[in-house]
Amino acid sequence: MALSRKVQQVQPSATLAMSSKTKEMIAKGIDVINLSIGEPDFTTPKAIGDAAIAAINSGKASFYTPAGGLPELKTAIRARIKAEDGVDYRQNQVIVTDGAKFALFLIFQVILNPGDNVLLPEPFWVSYSEQVRLAGGQPLAIKASGKDHKVTVADLEQMRTPQTQAMVINSPQNPSGLLYTAEELRELGNWAVAHDILIVADDIYSNLVYNGNQFTSLVSLGEAIKKQTLLVTGVSKTYAMTGWRIGYVLGDPQIIKAMNTVASHATGNPAAVSQYAALAGLNGDQKDAEKMRLAFEKRLNLLYPKIQSLPGFEIETKPQGAFYIFPKVKQAVAQCGYSTTEEFVEALLEEAHVAVVSGRSFGQPDYIRISYATDQASLDEAYKRTKDFLETKSK
Ligand SMILES: Cc1ncc(COP(=O)(O)O)c(C=O)c1O
Repeated sequence: MALSRKVQQVQPSATLAMSSKTKEMIAKGIDVINLSIGEPDFTTPKAIGDAAIAAINSGKASFYTPAGGLPELKTAIRARIKAEDGVDYRQNQVIVTDGAKFALFLIFQVILNPGDNVLLPEPFWVSYSEQVRLAGGQPLAIKASGKDHKVTVADLEQMRTPQTQAMVINSPQNPSGLLYTAEELRELGNWAVAHDILIVADDIYSNLVYNGNQFTSLVSLGEAIKKQTLLVTGVSKTYAMTGWRIGYVLGDPQIIKAMNTVASHATGNPAAVSQYAALAGLNGDQKDAEKMRLAFEKRLNLLYPKIQSLPGFEIETKPQGAFYIFPKVKQAVAQCGYSTTEEFVEALLEEAHVAVVSGRSFGQPDYIRISYATDQASLDEAYKRTKDFLETKSK
């Protein structure tokens, strides 16, 4: 049985593969510290879980919902976006999806024709390129020449073709944790408007910004940029709700309607119980979300100088958001006698029992992604093991 050509071009998620391998080792009783994961280590706040239980007990969660989500959830999403980004959306400009991942998948399904391309500034999250391919489009990796791995208009202009349909901007960024300033975003937004290129703004980490840095959403930069932008976000990272699978998109009503049509044939609707849980998160007082943000900030501030001090590790700028550090490890790889970052990552896992992800799947093979979404004692131990590993190997 031959698989489709489309699916044969697609790679499995490298981050999920690393995470599964690590979980297998842990299940065998090996004491691995997992810094490969892209999800908060916290459990979902109790008030959210309680709302889900109440929705089950009342029977509300028993039934299909509209394909694009419960009307009251869309209203809550609009209110939260208004509170956070200061912008208004109408009800027909919102769709609720099975996680932001499926939101992005749907976007590419409805906007791309064969041969269309999507600009993806490096480093980029592993799923964008594969989702573009699955939609019959072509991902175009963009070398970002700006400060701190950030893309500039000149970088984008170099790669733009008549088939360029969209570009993805992810800030705070996975894997680098870096944040675009309002001025940087305005330049990118104006360029997209001038060339009628759709902006996919992946704001999933917008509430995880640290040390006084300010998040700006592209949609807050004036009507023209807002109209050109699909805002993608969700509850996974802010409320420690990765397992519930609720994301959403706000933007052009025609695109939202098309996404709704595809979703109605694909998933039917996001799980009703999860929608009631998300509703409680969005309408709640945000204190639990803030507590988790502060915990991540504290970990970043403790871990960053340690990572910086590791021999052969280089980081130009301290991350400002998300929960990742993305050091360049080219020198460390060479000093330890490995020829690729993958060999280094493999040995770190097998010998030091520390799991991280190679930067290759984010488009930058000389880097590794370290997630600090784990408790402080594990982070301290992982640092110690990595330091010992580097010292032993480079002797
Ligand atoms: C940059 C980025 N976008 C989107 C997502 C998808 O999040 P979810 O599908 O859990 O809402 C992730 C998750 O890791 C991410 O890192």
